[in-house]
Amino acid sequence: MKSIQVGLLGAGTVGSGTFKVLQRNQEEIKRRAGRGIEITMVADLDTARAREVAGEGVKVVADAREVIANPDIDIVIELIGGYGIARQLVLEAIAAGKHVVTANKALLAVHGTEIFAAAHAKGVMVAFEAAVAGGIPIIKALREGLTANSIQWLAGIINGTTNFILSEMRDKGLDFATVLKEAQRLGYAEADPTFDIEGVDAAHKVTLMSAIAFGIPVQFDKAHVEGITKLAAQDIKYAEQLGYRIKLLGVTKRTAQGIELRVHPSLVPSKRLLANVEGAMNAVVVHGDAVGTTLYYGKGAGSEPTASAVIADLVDITRLHTADAAHRVPHLAFHPDAMSDLKVLPMSEVVTSYYLRLRVADQAGVLAKVTGLLATAGISIDAVLQREADEVGGEGSTQTDLIILTHDAREGTVNDVMAELQALPTVLEPIVRIRKEELK
Ligand code: HSE
Repeated sequence: MKSIQVGLLGAGTVGSGTFKVLQRNQEEIKRRAGRGIEITMVADLDTARAREVAGEGVKVVADAREVIANPDIDIVIELIGGYGIARQLVLEAIAAGKHVVTANKALLAVHGTEIFAAAHAKGVMVAFEAAVAGGIPIIKALREGLTANSIQWLAGIINGTTNFILSEMRDKGLDFATVLKEAQRLGYAEADPTFDIEGVDAAHKVTLMSAIAFGIPVQFDKAHVEGITKLAAQDIKYAEQLGYRIKLLGVTKRTAQGIELRVHPSLVPSKRLLANVEGAMNAVVVHGDAVGTTLYYGKGAGSEPTASAVIADLVDITRLHTADAAHRVPHLAFHPDAMSDLKVLPMSEVVTSYYLRLRVADQAGVLAKVTGLLATAGISIDAVLQREADEVGGEGSTQTDLIILTHDAREGTVNDVMAELQALPTVLEPIVRIRKEELK
C-alpha cells in the first residue's frame, strides 16, 4: 500500500528528530502502522535549514500554505509553536481535510475548544501527544490506558527547565537568579525563559491533562499560574529539614465542589517518587479510582524524545484514518456531546496544606499569638520549626524564622489569617506561603 503522506510545518529541533527517527525505524514503524509513513514536504521560512533536515527527495517550501494546499498530503505536523500563525495554519489544515499532529501546548490550551470543534465538524483528528511532557505517553495513558477509571487527581513535574533550576538550587544552595543564568549558559533555559519560570508552560500542559482526565473543556484562563521566580534558597533548605522537596507542580483534582487546576511551587514529601525526579526530567502521577496511583516518568523535551511522541501520533492516525470518525478515540477522551460542565474552582476555594515562613521578633508570646490566630481560623498545625535567632540573623540577632506546616485548609481562610498574621507588629517581613501536596 502507498505510504501515508505527511507535510511538516517547522523544521527545527523536533522536526529534525522526527525525520531521523522515522528514517531509522521506518521498517518497524511500517510493521506497526500497517503502511509506510513518509514526510514528503516541509515548510520553513529558513529553506536552507529545512533542506538540511529533510535530505534528498523531500519538497521544501517557504510557504506553509503550499503544504496545506497539496491534495496528496494526508497529515500536517505543526511544529511552529505559539498562538499566532500556528492557529491560523492548523485551522486551515483542518478545513482542507488534513489530520493534524502538533506539539503546540500553548495553542491547544488557549484555543483548543475552537480547534477540536473544527476538527470534529470536519471529521479529522488533531493529535497532541508531544504537547505534554515530551516523550512520555501521558495523553495516551490518560485517554486510553486509564479509560476505565474515574480519575481523582493528577500532579506532574511537567517543565524541565524549572525542575533543573530547582534541583540546582537545592544541590548547590544557590539562589534563583544565579541558577537561571547558569541554566541559560548551558542551554537548559531559553534566552527568554518567561513561559517556563512563570509556570505558564506547565499550566498549558496541566490544562490539557485536566480536560482529558475529567472531560471538561480546555480552560487555560481558569488555571492558577505561579512560577518559581520568588522562591528563596532558604525555603528549599527549611523544607528539606522538614522532610520535603520543593517542586513546580501542575495539579488538577476532582472535588465535590468542582475542579482544581493550578500550577505553583509545592512542598512534596521527600519519600515520594515525584520528589526524586531531578534535573530536566518530567513525571506525572495519576490517581484513578480503580487502578490507584500510577507514575509516568521520562524526558519532557528534546529532539528525539519529542519526535517519539509525534511519530506515535502519526502511527495512530495512520491506523485510524479510514475508521468512521464516530468510532475514533475522542480528542479529549470523552465524546464532545458528553462533556462535563464541572466548574474550575477559584484558588480561594482550593483545599490543600501549607508551608508558612514568618520572620518574627524573637520574644515571649509570639509563637502563642501566631498559633492562636491559626487555631481561631480552624487551621490545624502539622509541624513547627523554629531556628535559633543567631543561626538566622547572625550573632546577637533578635529575629528568627518560624516555619509552620498546616494540615488541609481552604485557601480563602488561609489568605484571611495570613492578613491577620502580617498585621502583627512582631511579624517583621512579608510572610512566605508555599503550598504542600502530600500526594497520598
Ligand atoms: N520548555 C519546556 C520545558 C519544554 O522546559 O520543559 C517544552 O515544553
